[in-house]
Amino acid sequence: MAPPCSSALVLPCLLVIAMAALQSAVVFADTVTAKRPLSGSQSALVSKRRKFALGFFQPENSQHWYLGIWYNQISKHTPVWVANRGTPISNPDTSQLTIATDGNMVLLDNSTTAIWSTNISKIASNSTVGVILDTGNLVLADESNTSIIHWQSFDHFGNTWLPGGKLGRNNKLAGVSTRLVAWKARNDPSPGVFSLELDPNGTSQYLLEWSITQQYWTSGNWTGRIFADVPEMTGCYPSSTYTFDYVNGENESESYFVYDLKDESVLTRFFLSEMGQIQFLTWIYAAKDWMPFWSQPKVKCDVYSLCGPFSVCTENALTSCSCLRGFSEQNVGEWLQGDHTSGCRRNVELQCSSNASVMGRTDGFYTMANVRLPSNAESVVVIGNDQCEQACLRSCSCTAYSYNGSCSLWHGDLINLQDVSAISSQGSSTVLIRLAASELSGQKKKNTKNLITIAIVATSVLVLMIAALFFIFRRRMVKETTRVEGSLIAFTYRDLKSVTKNFSEKLGGGAFGLVFKGSLPDATVVAVKKLEGFRQGEKQFRAEVSTIGNIQHVNLIRLLGFCSEKSRRLLVYEYMPNGSLDKQLFDNKKHVLSWNTRYQIALGIARGLDYLHEKCRDCIIHCDIKPENILLDGSFAPKVADFGLAKLMGRDISRVLTTARGTVGYIAPEWIAGTAVTAKADVFSYGMTLLEIVSGRRNVQGRRRRQEQQDDGGAAADRPFPLVAAGRLFCGGGGRREEMVSAVVDGRLGGDADMGEAERACRVAFWCIQDDENARPAMATVVQVLEGLVEIGVPPIPRSLQFLAELADQSNYLQFFSDLLPSN
Ligand SMILES: *[C@@H]1O[C@H](CO)[C@@H](O)[C@H](O)[C@H]1NC(C)=O
Ligand SMILES: *[C@@H]1O[C@H](CO)[C@@H](O)[C@H](O)[C@H]1NC(C)=O
Ligand SMILES: *[C@@H]1O[C@H](CO)[C@@H](O)[C@H](O)[C@H]1NC(C)=O
Ligand SMILES: *[C@@H]1O[C@H](CO)[C@@H](O)[C@H](O)[C@H]1NC(C)=O
Ligand SMILES: *[C@@H]1O[C@H](CO)[C@@H](O)[C@H](O)[C@H]1NC(C)=O
Ligand SMILES: *[C@@H]1O[C@H](CO)[C@@H](O)[C@H](O)[C@H]1NC(C)=O
Ligand SMILES: *[C@@H]1O[C@H](CO)[C@@H](O)[C@H](O)[C@H]1NC(C)=O
Ligand SMILES: *[C@@H]1O[C@H](CO)[C@@H](O)[C@H](O)[C@H]1NC(C)=O
Ligand SMILES: *[C@@H]1O[C@H](CO)[C@@H](O)[C@H](O)[C@H]1NC(C)=O
Repeated sequence: MAPPCSSALVLPCLLVIAMAALQSAVVFADTVTAKRPLSGSQSALVSKRRKFALGFFQPENSQHWYLGIWYNQISKHTPVWVANRGTPISNPDTSQLTIATDGNMVLLDNSTTAIWSTNISKIASNSTVGVILDTGNLVLADESNTSIIHWQSFDHFGNTWLPGGKLGRNNKLAGVSTRLVAWKARNDPSPGVFSLELDPNGTSQYLLEWSITQQYWTSGNWTGRIFADVPEMTGCYPSSTYTFDYVNGENESESYFVYDLKDESVLTRFFLSEMGQIQFLTWIYAAKDWMPFWSQPKVKCDVYSLCGPFSVCTENALTSCSCLRGFSEQNVGEWLQGDHTSGCRRNVELQCSSNASVMGRTDGFYTMANVRLPSNAESVVVIGNDQCEQACLRSCSCTAYSYNGSCSLWHGDLINLQDVSAISSQGSSTVLIRLAASELSGQKKKNTKNLITIAIVATSVLVLMIAALFFIFRRRMVKETTRVEGSLIAFTYRDLKSVTKNFSEKLGGGAFGLVFKGSLPDATVVAVKKLEGFRQGEKQFRAEVSTIGNIQHVNLIRLLGFCSEKSRRLLVYEYMPNGSLDKQLFDNKKHVLSWNTRYQIALGIARGLDYLHEKCRDCIIHCDIKPENILLDGSFAPKVADFGLAKLMGRDISRVLTTARGTVGYIAPEWIAGTAVTAKADVFSYGMTLLEIVSGRRNVQGRRRRQEQQDDGGAAADRPFPLVAAGRLFCGGGGRREEMVSAVVDGRLGGDADMGEAERACRVAFWCIQDDENARPAMATVVQVLEGLVEIGVPPIPRSLQFLAELADQSNYLQFFSDLLPSN
């Protein structure tokens, strides 16, 4: 039995099974009463159908305890509501949730002090209970009839809006609304600065706000069908999965929006993150993780004051926020937890305010280029840059200026500054930040003679150092290359920077990171992959990498070395001059792969996979077989790339779905369904890839690609997907060979293909994509069939054909989905 795709998948699996076994033995209550209070870290109430749990929990990286509600049936602890957001409790064993004598539900710390309460002044009942419902709603209801509800958590959202809840406002009582309020930080549920609410002024638009006062995103008015600025709502994904409606109560007491799910087994999570972004996520059972399919604002740096004062926001960077020069984090602890809203403070106070200018020292400025400026500037009419600078210096509150022909000054806290150097030079500006003179010393006011001397000395030292480094570097590289023959070279990051000429020549980007071309001192050409989204520690990384390094086969790409330094992880592979199979198969208009080459490629991939699955010591499921991951050497022999990375990186289906367009067509149905994944998932992906090798076309094509083909003249786009055509022919009992040629085999070959081989390839491909994994052949069998050693019968029609045809229709959704995420 081969191991599943990721170690990350197995353990939670076992845990879930173990927990399920435990749960069936214990009867869980869903009700808290005065006689049966809830107390202790180990006990929780569980809703009737076990969907949600209510109990005490600690957020990750927090010492504090909270009473909250979370999804009961998923492995990742995800709170959806917290009672005592701002007042944590010290010890859950001495705390309890109970019903007070006045009928309110209360949370008592040390069994005495009420630190949270439903706080209803008059309850028209002499006996109440608290019940956690399957919707995730906690209600305070009559004991005799729990349909009579006096209070519900759905009227007091935290950061999460669950299906069935109403997010809206009371039109009769001004200021009364249910609003989502983000957590302060990842580990701190106390109310943060970002919130989402229905416009309290009475329009039908939702507003994202900072400290209630600043709006930074609006949904647009309800048009009767969608919100004006959320056109995605018409996309086929939401409408086929959700029902939603906006109730605009002109004469009603409330206006609100509700949404619900058509399929109860789907878990979603609409929440406002501590970074001020609304995120709509779906739980992917297979990946055991949340996958975002919609978020706003799309650009993180559009969130108002995300990085706080005197810091700069950089989109798509690992750390979005960083302090300006001359400033340091106001609160380092908060920054570490992803809460940057306190921003940065000056290292040295401005001299303007401390009267130091009297003593002849003045503040100065330093220049920051490639920024998007904050909008709250004061414009002053002056002539020239110097006058603009003087205008700023004259005002003690002025902290920055910008001059581009007209003069803009900023007073007080400088917020919403964005570094756009990595995005585009278009629309970027230059800003001058005011600092105390002492912070700027070393830059200005040196006399030129000194400066020249320093420059000469510094340059010579630098040249010497570079020369020395170069020699050391060369010697060490050569030494190591020879020393660890047959095994892996451990590179330093600096080595690899030099090998790749500072990562200057990009070869491509896969699901795991960008790949750069490089050249070792012995002239070996290599491909250096910079891993992104890496989750494992150094030790585990080295262990996995040495496993991968030990796998050697003529049809598997060879790992030559690696680098593991701080958070950096890079892999060094042999270089494949003919690039990836998809480029040769779909994009190369000049050179069409001959039939013989294709057949050899198909056979080579099968042999490589067979080796991975069965022949090597530590067996590996690849998890991501597709033309992009097949590389071709100088003579077009195939080598499977990226094996072992699924395990190394922690497989996550959202990565598969989003990082490469079209990947969806290669994933086995059981994987999407969330059941355990075996080597037969690779067999499925191989089958899909094989059909593409034969047809020279994608089985599932996105809208964009289809559009391209239509633009190409339309001939290709009019043909049905080869997959469907092939299915009809083979599964319907076999067609005439001439028909097969026109329907399946790549037309660009002009019929120049071995019909016996083509039929074998198609048949085995259809066996590979059977719904039932047991019906799919092992890779060893596939090799034998392709070698002509074993005959294979006519395959039954796989249901996944239908599924894939549907997927092809849903390309709108996929397009929409992939547009949300940063593309490579
Ligand atoms: C509860 O007890 C702990 C230790 O006994 C104490 O530190 C804490 O302050 C108490 N909390 C309240 C609210 O009395
Ligand atoms: C209960 O509500 C009253 C006003 O309605 C408020 O003053 C009080 O602080 C609330 N108490 C708690 C524990 O929330
Ligand atoms: C609650 O009040 C009703 C009348 O309103 C009375 O009949 C009932 O006995 C009371 N129950 C308790 C437990 O006090
Ligand atoms: C409980 O209350 C609901 C709503 O007030 C009512 O429709 C229902 O008949 C009541 N059920 C019983 C058993 O009294
Ligand atoms: C609501 O109206 C007030 C007063 O008319 C105005 O100051 C405020 O900006 C408005 N808020 C929104 C969200 O439009
Ligand atoms: C939204 O509707 C209100 C009236 O309900 C209108 O005053 C406002 O201009 C509309 N906003 C937009 C952006 O169309
Ligand atoms: C709302 O109330 C006004 C006056 O009270 C009435 O003319 C109108 O018909 C009502 N609209 C609806 C939808 O009930
Ligand atoms: C600055 O100087 C003025 C008079 O020269 C004095 O009144 C003021 O207190 C001084 N401010 C500070 C912050 O020292
Ligand atoms: C200069 O900057 C101001 C404010 O950012 C902008 O409105 C203006 O168009 C800019 N002018 C030029 C010439 O770029």
